[in-house]
Amino acid sequence: MSIKNTLNLGDNTHSVPLELFALNRRRLVDRLRSVGVEKCLVLLQGGDEVPFNDTDVTVNVFRQESYFMWAFGVLEPGVYGTVDISTGKSTLFIPRLPESYAIWMGPLLTLQDFKNKYQVDECFYLDEIVQKIQEKQPDQLLTLKGINSDSGFEAVEAKFDGIDKFKVNNTILFNEIAELRVFKTNLELEVLRYVAKASSEAHRKVMRYVKPGRSEYQCESQFMNHCYAERGCRHVSYTCICGAGQNGAILHYGHAAAPNDAFIKDGDMCLFDMGGNYFGYAADITCSYPANGKFTADQKLIYEAVLKANKAVQGAAKPGVSWVDMHLLSSRTLLEALKTGGILKGDVDEMMKHSLGYYFQPHGLGHLLGLDVHDVGGYLPGQPERPSQTGINKLRFARILQKGMFVTIEPGCYFIDPLLDQILADSKLSQFVVPEVLNRFRGFGGVRIEDDVYIGENGVEDYTRVPRTVEEIERWMAGLDDDKY
Ligand code: GLY
Ligand code: MN
Ligand code: MN
Repeated sequence: MSIKNTLNLGDNTHSVPLELFALNRRRLVDRLRSVGVEKCLVLLQGGDEVPFNDTDVTVNVFRQESYFMWAFGVLEPGVYGTVDISTGKSTLFIPRLPESYAIWMGPLLTLQDFKNKYQVDECFYLDEIVQKIQEKQPDQLLTLKGINSDSGFEAVEAKFDGIDKFKVNNTILFNEIAELRVFKTNLELEVLRYVAKASSEAHRKVMRYVKPGRSEYQCESQFMNHCYAERGCRHVSYTCICGAGQNGAILHYGHAAAPNDAFIKDGDMCLFDMGGNYFGYAADITCSYPANGKFTADQKLIYEAVLKANKAVQGAAKPGVSWVDMHLLSSRTLLEALKTGGILKGDVDEMMKHSLGYYFQPHGLGHLLGLDVHDVGGYLPGQPERPSQTGINKLRFARILQKGMFVTIEPGCYFIDPLLDQILADSKLSQFVVPEVLNRFRGFGGVRIEDDVYIGENGVEDYTRVPRTVEEIERWMAGLDDDKY
């Protein structure tokens, strides 16, 4: 078997060095030692394939569980891994596959092949795991137990027949790995830069493909095709959200009951939120633009209000700044612009006190981004808790920004009928709106402008490369500026 030192899909794709995962394991060893852990083995269980109900096909092409990917970079299902905190040595345990595997699935990798492929210290069969761990005589096995603060689901805690022979500690690992995952290494940033660039290219392609009469799903398909065919992203990081016209106001449009199946009309705004995934690492980018390539006055008003909020945050976000304050800055900027545009009236401080921004943007400003699109580490012990105030309680994290974080900045403005009705029915809120102007925007849909940014020492570095101003978008959609992005 030929040995590659990287994960890649050939020419025009990024080579992800296996050193990226070795470095993560070293960081884990150092961190656990620094909190007094000795003579323990970290034990992680990789993901398993999910069958499609009772059939013999899988739900999807397998994608590795993110904690396991972070630590080992292993692409196959059914694998376990350990990291010895005393020695730093890493071991993989792989399923012993039947001979028939070679007939149906391709060559059977030997233990040596697997060890070489992932550059770990040792590799054994999974049915040897009890004996091999016993030989190491660890004081404890550290397993992953905790709840993902975005989904509410539990991490999969490693289990195998015979684990009862060992002392298991499941209270340390989760918070320590999650905290490490918040801070990206330079090797990870190179992958994130690549997948953001690939996804930006695909968005730019869709911007020139879209036109009235085409369907939302054709745009989704163009995006996915570019990411995979040109840049090797076999997966997208979440279901593509391709809302045209009023569908742009459905925050998680694109799911099975609203499957990007509308046909795009002249005069529609498009809100397309799509991100490729490259060897686990995610992009999450939203572009909003008129389907026919020319903004109307109303479209320009809303778009520029959201862009102003995005740019205000990009200018202010840096280490030491609270993400909650960034959300509030964004919200204030949006409300001020909507007031200038004649949709709102009155005192913006008072609007802020009444959380009026929530009714136009019922989601948080953005989130951590990495192996998961809503990446882990949002609400860990010792970090600010989820705020309780309407609007900011939607934030997926409330931390003070630090160098090395990677986040999305994604303000939006949506005209969601039930929320507009709530404003108009509540005198504390309706005092701020000009109803005849507001009602003009019913059916408009929405605008979101979502960038993937690195928090560096001096502020934000934006990895997103798409036309953003009204003029840039109109020029790009008219076929100009080929070499600009
Ligand atoms: N694509 C989901 C999000 O923007 O968070
Ligand atoms: Mn998004
Ligand atoms: Mn996002």
